[in-house]
Order: sequence, then C-alpha cells, then structure tokens
Amino acid sequence: MSDSLKIYLDGEFVPKSEAKISVFDHGLLYGDGVFEGIRVYGGCVFKLEEHLERLEYSAKALILKMPWSRQEIAEVVCDTCRVNDIRDGYIRLLVTRGVGSLGLSPRTCEKPSLIVIADKIQLYPEKYYTEGLKIITVPTRRSGPAMLPPMIKSLNYVNNILAKIEAQHAGYEEAIMLDDAGYVAECTGDNVFIVHKGTVYTPPPSTGALKGITRAAVLEIAEALEIPLKEQPLTRYDIWVAEECFLTGTAAEVIPVVEVDARPIGDSKPGEITNKFLEKFHDVVLKDGTML
Ligand SMILES: Cc1ncc(COP(=O)(O)O)c(C=O)c1O
Repeated sequence: MSDSLKIYLDGEFVPKSEAKISVFDHGLLYGDGVFEGIRVYGGCVFKLEEHLERLEYSAKALILKMPWSRQEIAEVVCDTCRVNDIRDGYIRLLVTRGVGSLGLSPRTCEKPSLIVIADKIQLYPEKYYTEGLKIITVPTRRSGPAMLPPMIKSLNYVNNILAKIEAQHAGYEEAIMLDDAGYVAECTGDNVFIVHKGTVYTPPPSTGALKGITRAAVLEIAEALEIPLKEQPLTRYDIWVAEECFLTGTAAEVIPVVEVDARPIGDSKPGEITNKFLEKFHDVVLKDGTML
C-alpha cells in the first residue's frame, strides 16, 4: 500500500497515515456498521449500483440511517479512485455507526461515518486459478437468518473469521460453512457453486448466505451462455459427487475448487464449465458498471 494513498473520511481526502476514527466508534467497539468490497477493472467500477443497493439494504436492516444519497456515495467512490489514480483495484466502502458511549445502544451514536479506501489489490496467486483450490468443511456454522442474518454485510465478521481460523489450522485457505440445518451455506468470503451432470447448482442465499454480487453476475452469465442453473439447497454429499465446484467473490472472482474434504472433485483439475464462467466474467467486468 502506497504511503501517498488518500482515504476518503467524512467529507475529506486525508493521507493514509492520518485516516483515523475514534476508539468510541461503535464500528470498532461492536462491529456495528456495514461495508462493501468493490472491484474496479479498466476504469469500470464493477456493478457499483448493485453494491450501493446492498449497502443500503444492510444499513436498513440495522436501522442505520445514512444521511447520504446513493448518488452522493457513488460520486465519493468514483472520486476516491480518481484521486488515487486507481483504474484497476479494490475499493472498500464502509459506514460505521459512529461515535457513541461505551454501551451497546446505537441511540448514543449521533452520526455515522463514511469511509472509502481505494487501492491496488493483491491478486490471488495465479496457481489458484490454473490448479484450483483445495478446501474443507469446518465445524463453525454460518449464523442463520434468525441470528445475525448473513445477508447483512456488517462489520462483524467474527463468525467467518472463526471458520477461517479453523481452515488455516487444518492447512487450508478457504472453508465451507454449513448452515444450522447442515446444508451448505457459503465459504468464509465467497459463494459456492457446483456442476453436476451439466447443470450448475448454488444454494439460495435466503437460507444463510450473503447475496453475492459476483454470484449474481455468474447467474447472468449462465443465462447468457444458456448453461442450466438451479438455486437449491446443497449438502456436502452433493459437493463431494459433483464434477466441478467453484467459488465466487469480489476478491476471488471465479475460483475453481478441485478437492473438498479430501474428496477429489471431477478429475482434480479446474472444470470446463468453471473455466467458461471465468473467461466470460473477465469480459463483463470491463463493461458492467460505472465508468470513472
Ligand atoms: C461471507 C461472504 N459471502 C460471499 C461473498 C461474495 O460476495 P461478493 O461477490 O458480493 O463479493 C463475500 C464477499 O463479500 C462474503 O464476505
């Protein structure tokens, strides 16, 4: 990360070293806030509108009133890229509950903070895409819709971090998290897809996953390429016997999985349909968004 990076913080651009928030911000004290991770490809902020809509929904679910219009936030996001000359990179957009007292109550927080960071991204190693990932299922369950609904992209990622720690402890980089009923929910920071007998399957997000923007892009690509796709609950067994498996996420894009819980997936190489999605995805990211 360059030292000359300028961070947008509540109305101004400040150097990275001066971009600080209060220790009384409930975003820090309780993870009370919402965020988005967004990519910019060749000057196109990929699916910015969709990210801003999800941010609004997350905030609404937490009764976190944002005093900025969607257009204002969009401009701040684009300006942060322009100011830092980022045409290919990663944007982190955060809204914290703001400064309050030490108690939990959001009522003590007078105004939310808006923070935008745009930087070059550390890409995943190329071999993840050419060779595929090996992953496992971990004991920690994804919190369900009646707990902390995973559709809310909140600043509280401790549920996912527990799963990440378990995966890393076992020597893996990513983990499948099951929902409370034992169905596949998602990975710690990605949605899950499988391919079985020519049809693509992914769990419906309503059962306990984030409604991924990359996931939605894959649904659109499937339609454009006329690849049959079904949203239905999946078990671990469904994944073990699939011919292909891949994960989707803003940072990971479309990443092939070649082993799950020590079972090889297909012939242990990134699958043909996965590669089609990956290729088409690289096309759409340059067009489907807001140009800087
Ligand atoms: C828990 C979780 N699931 C799925 C995703 C993928 O969502 P998206 O494609 O919008 O990045 C993310 C990444 O933001 C995530 O944090």
